[in-house]
Amino acid sequence: MATKPEPIPSPAQGVGPIYRPDGEKPTATVSRDVSYENVHVLPQTPQLIALLTMIRDKKTGRADFIFYSNRIIRLLVEEGLNHLPVVEQSVTTPVDRAYLGVKFEGKICGVSIMRAGEAMEQGLRDCCRSVRIGKILIQRDEETCMPKLFYEKLPADIAERWVLLLDPMFATGGSATLAVEVLKNKGVPEHRILFLNLIASPSGVAEFAERFPKLRVVTAFIDQGLDEKKYITPGLGDFGDRYYTL
Ligand code: PRP
Ligand code: URA
Repeated sequence: MATKPEPIPSPAQGVGPIYRPDGEKPTATVSRDVSYENVHVLPQTPQLIALLTMIRDKKTGRADFIFYSNRIIRLLVEEGLNHLPVVEQSVTTPVDRAYLGVKFEGKICGVSIMRAGEAMEQGLRDCCRSVRIGKILIQRDEETCMPKLFYEKLPADIAERWVLLLDPMFATGGSATLAVEVLKNKGVPEHRILFLNLIASPSGVAEFAERFPKLRVVTAFIDQGLDEKKYITPGLGDFGDRYYTL
């Protein structure tokens, strides 16, 4: 006699065991809500939360940190590409049927905020072959936490492109704000900038969304807040150190 198949657990059931028995989720595992139309948080699937858990864990070594960060970066890039415009495209399939689909319209480029943002370049290249990539070197002063611009090298025709601005950490928002000012000074209209980010602070993202209402933010998670050194909490520590040097 055929046995009845086990029911497939829903995503919510699947993550059940890591949560409290009363069913209430620990607050730090729940991305904070923001009510800005220009801020898009990735779907909070068990897979994404598991990947974030790996990179948040201070016991995670560099090789795993790179591997799991790269997986989240790929999800961010795929979601970011959903925000680019498409036009209708008609094709004929191998069985001679017409299919009315879409294709991307417009030119794009990536711009990484060095150093940590460079970690997101490969994820973009994996999806957009031979994409042009510009660089902006901004460093946060360790004492004051204020961003300082050191260097920029951007495609000459950047004003005609959609720009995917890359930085995994968004704490006070100072570095990203300075990078956006650089892009705007080069003639990139705000609505053609997409900021891709792994973890944002609620205050940073709110200020940014209000200051640049036409720019879109795609982030994996909005965390609880900032500590006294303006590090994101619970956060993951210094992304650049963990990805490149630790
Ligand atoms: C980190 C991070 C952001 C910035 C976020 O870079 O990659 O660029 O801090 O902080 P903010 O939102 O308060 O400006 P950092 O300047 O530490 O340099 P790094 O990329 O070399 O680690
Ligand atoms: N930069 C980081 O790498 N992490 C933070 O939490 C804040 C700034």
